[in-house]
Amino acid sequence: ISQQSGSITCSAPSNIALVKYWGKRGEQLPANPSLSFTLQHCKTITKLDYSPKTSSDTFSFDLFFDGKPKDDFKPKIEQFFQRILTYCPYLTSFHFTINTQNTFPHSSGIASSASGMAALSFCIMQLEKLLNPSIVDEFLYQKASFLARLGSGSACRSIKDSVVVWGRHQEVFQSSDLYGVPLNTPLHEVFKNYQDTILLVDKGEKQVSSTVGHNLMHNHPYAETRFFQAHQNLSALKLCLQNGNVQEFIKIVESEALTLHAMMMTSMPYFILMKPNTLHIINAIWQFRETTQIPVCFTLDAGANVHMLYPEKDKEVVLQFINSEIVGYCQNGHYICDEIGFGAQRL
Ligand code: PMV
Repeated sequence: ISQQSGSITCSAPSNIALVKYWGKRGEQLPANPSLSFTLQHCKTITKLDYSPKTSSDTFSFDLFFDGKPKDDFKPKIEQFFQRILTYCPYLTSFHFTINTQNTFPHSSGIASSASGMAALSFCIMQLEKLLNPSIVDEFLYQKASFLARLGSGSACRSIKDSVVVWGRHQEVFQSSDLYGVPLNTPLHEVFKNYQDTILLVDKGEKQVSSTVGHNLMHNHPYAETRFFQAHQNLSALKLCLQNGNVQEFIKIVESEALTLHAMMMTSMPYFILMKPNTLHIINAIWQFRETTQIPVCFTLDAGANVHMLYPEKDKEVVLQFINSEIVGYCQNGHYICDEIGFGAQRL
């Protein structure tokens, strides 16, 4: 096979953290465990063409995004290949052409690094399976998650299963700092097909990259308390996901989102990624929840966009609310309807 050319196409979804990863150490290791819902519709689709070349120390690849050369992203991929070379020494025996596209709009402010790194890692593992057909699926998925982590930490939660934990946690079976594992608890009915409507508040480039943000947790005055709290929140959230206590779920999820941003506001240098419309939306959600008793809540990633989470059965009413009271706060009225999904796939 290493003498042959071929092509592998895979997709991987984005994910939304409920317990946030913020702060890292060593080689992309998390300072605290995190938990996320895998998404279904916001995906990266990556086609990896490979052809043999004389093995050398250097990587050789071309990169295309939406069919156009994407040279400004090459250093990031180069660094990724460099990091995973010890684990995938065969990479230098091929020339690669990487063609990638996202199902969500370009520069929507939705981070494509999680889905992008997960899709590429999954392609690489499919190649590894061609080179070594005795690899079993369990190893393939675990190593794909391990590789994805080295590309972008949260990407390791986009490979497999609907609710994923990354980072060692006492109550999560086989949890690891090295890769994501499924939450070892059956999901309560109410969370099946749980909805995530992503309200696009600001599509601009982030002023502060997540790499810089993570590093600001070193010497952060509240770091230790925060890392401890993440462990506690994960335990409590695990219980909610099991017993369907949505009121408790809401408290933990919203507190996690605000704590993430509080960490940004209290680091040195400090920064604010929320926009005025982020706060307008949060207030509108709180008011809507109080008047309707519909258990909708919000979470935030490292940006101004708001993720609205709610049960599938309330979809119609919530969408009505969004269309009447929320769209005005979204840039160009844009939002994306997503829901809980399953992970990466070979297409
Ligand atoms: O994977 P990174 O380095 O882009 O960090 C992601 C950080 C958050 O999205 C803010 C939280 C998380 O757990 O996904």
